[in-house]
Amino acid sequence: MKSMKKLLLAAAMAAIVLPAAADEGMWLPSLIGSRIDDMRAKGFTLTAKDIYSVNKASMKDAVVLFNGGCTGELISDKGLLLTNHHCGYSAIQRHSGLGHDYLTYGFSAMTPEQELPNEGLWVRFLVRMEDITGRLAAGEKIADITEAATEKGRYKASTESMYYGNQTFLFVYEQFDDVRLVLAPPSSIGKFGGDTDNWVWPRHTGDFSVFRIYADRKNRPAKYSPDNVPYRPKRSFAISTKGVEEGDFTMIYGFPGNTQQFVLAPAVKYVLELSDPAKVDIRTKRLDIISEAQESDPALRIYYAANHANIANAWKKWQGEIIGLKRNGTLERKRQYERRFIEAAEGKPEYQAVIGELYQEYMRIIPIYFAREMLSETLRTLPMPYAEKTRADELFDKCRPVEQKLWRLAFAEYEKNIGDSEYAVPQLREGIERYGSAEAYADVLFEAACSGGSDELKALTDGMLQTERRLRKELETNNLRNLNSGKLEKLYALYMRGLQQLDTERAFFPDANLTLRVAYGSVAGYEYADGEYHKPHTTLDGIIAKDDPNIYDYDIPQRLRELYASKDYGRWGTVIDGRLTVPVCFLATNHTTGGNSGSPILNARGELVGINFDRTWRSTMSDLEFDPTICRNISADIRYVLFVIDKVCGAGYLLDEMKLK
Ligand code: ARG
Ligand code: GLU
Repeated sequence: MKSMKKLLLAAAMAAIVLPAAADEGMWLPSLIGSRIDDMRAKGFTLTAKDIYSVNKASMKDAVVLFNGGCTGELISDKGLLLTNHHCGYSAIQRHSGLGHDYLTYGFSAMTPEQELPNEGLWVRFLVRMEDITGRLAAGEKIADITEAATEKGRYKASTESMYYGNQTFLFVYEQFDDVRLVLAPPSSIGKFGGDTDNWVWPRHTGDFSVFRIYADRKNRPAKYSPDNVPYRPKRSFAISTKGVEEGDFTMIYGFPGNTQQFVLAPAVKYVLELSDPAKVDIRTKRLDIISEAQESDPALRIYYAANHANIANAWKKWQGEIIGLKRNGTLERKRQYERRFIEAAEGKPEYQAVIGELYQEYMRIIPIYFAREMLSETLRTLPMPYAEKTRADELFDKCRPVEQKLWRLAFAEYEKNIGDSEYAVPQLREGIERYGSAEAYADVLFEAACSGGSDELKALTDGMLQTERRLRKELETNNLRNLNSGKLEKLYALYMRGLQQLDTERAFFPDANLTLRVAYGSVAGYEYADGEYHKPHTTLDGIIAKDDPNIYDYDIPQRLRELYASKDYGRWGTVIDGRLTVPVCFLATNHTTGGNSGSPILNARGELVGINFDRTWRSTMSDLEFDPTICRNISADIRYVLFVIDKVCGAGYLLDEMKLK
């Protein structure tokens, strides 16, 4: 009787979740066995052990965490690695200068000796992962477990909690620190469309770069040395040159950074109504100031390029997130779901109470969290002396009018958004009162910063750092992105246990936390607007249509124009809709987020068909709620990547070490 009732309620709960069967999910590779039947039903031809195995080489051995924020994949047995252009961007930038501007013109090493070392750049392979929840419950200590897992320093080991601490996993990694730049396309390919096209479909960006991992003569990780040799990976991906069609199975293997699928309505409301709009507004103004400077001076255009791209990236993502959450009615759906949960939890007072307790805890922490976010979106963006990490030379470099405007803006926006909050930096308020306005106070401190410092500036900086520590303490966490606090996290852990008991229809996967995941789906277009279908493929013809030497973001290399004019596509020429062209990007339904940049997109046979680099901006609400009807990831078609390497960069010799199918 009781279980019957539970079942009905579970069904009722499931009914208000979006049709989750379709392609939602970022699955833990070691547990992929629970999904393999579904994957195979959708076309996948390999086994769970092909995806993840500790005892034999598997696909996981061809995937790396690239420098702590992106993913990369091995494409040869000589350590050749693909990731995004935007993931290699700062490495490429550091090697660039007058006369060797690799960002603009691209870079191709024509011999191994020409491959460029990159200090501080690292990649990490997952050696193994283990659910250690039981071991911890049995009294083992995390420190002992990780210490043993490093095998005397050979590996890096860390633990990650899943489901708000209900489970803990151990991750053991092998890290390589000699990673060299092999090839970067010109930015007019790797960043084609720039911030104009970022997060947008139709897309034509060749967002890739090529690196190589080096190891010592025993194939072990080693610091950079000219004696190092190309790393021989356990596995690398074969590359399919046959492409994928709409409806074809695809999977993605990578390191998604952060999602918040289980959060309650107050968190959605916070994102939707307070945080995203405020951050978008501040960044709009920052971008206006920076763009104006960039347009006034070509040197400044370059100087602020990376900075502008960084600011604009999340700025656009948040705008899309707002649109997506509204479109889904996520806030109301969450509320409904919570009401159902309370009904379903009848007879289980701890679950019934937990929603209310979570709401209450949110009331406490939201102002603190907002103060923290506003601090990092304003004052913390300024290079302040006395703050850690700011170097004097970096600051002096920045004592120009545009920086002064940014100081004024930061001070004013901070004051406007949380000036009257009890969690604001007190020195700022005092300074504003002293000088009459946020701008006047900003001017005084900017002058001070540029002439080496002052007591007043030191006082503000100290106050800012102190406030930051205080906020972190009140939030009881460093992780600001999940709105977690010690208490919040405990309550969520309880809620999660309730969900897993009561919502029996739902297939649970833990939120992304920069651990290795598999997502799968298929190549698919989508209905962009009423009556307006977006096809899942773009081609070189679309690049040519956008090409415009007068628009920075659309000014393609002359070489590409010539290749198009002569239709010299070599083996990469493909007939699409009756004309000979080269495929460029494609859309799929794979569930992704930031960190999945550079991830391999694999076909049903586990062959590489693309490199993930983006989502459509209206999909970005998938971090909170995935909607299979419109959420799409964007990949560079591997055939375009190979075409560019071969025909544009003239580095066709690299293809010899790849396994092309
Ligand atoms: N939107 C992609 C991501 O989130 C690409 C960002 C880099 N490109 C750019 N134009 N800013 O990382
Ligand atoms: N470009 C993103 C990254 O750096 C991936 C896009 C997304 O958020 O899905 O990981």
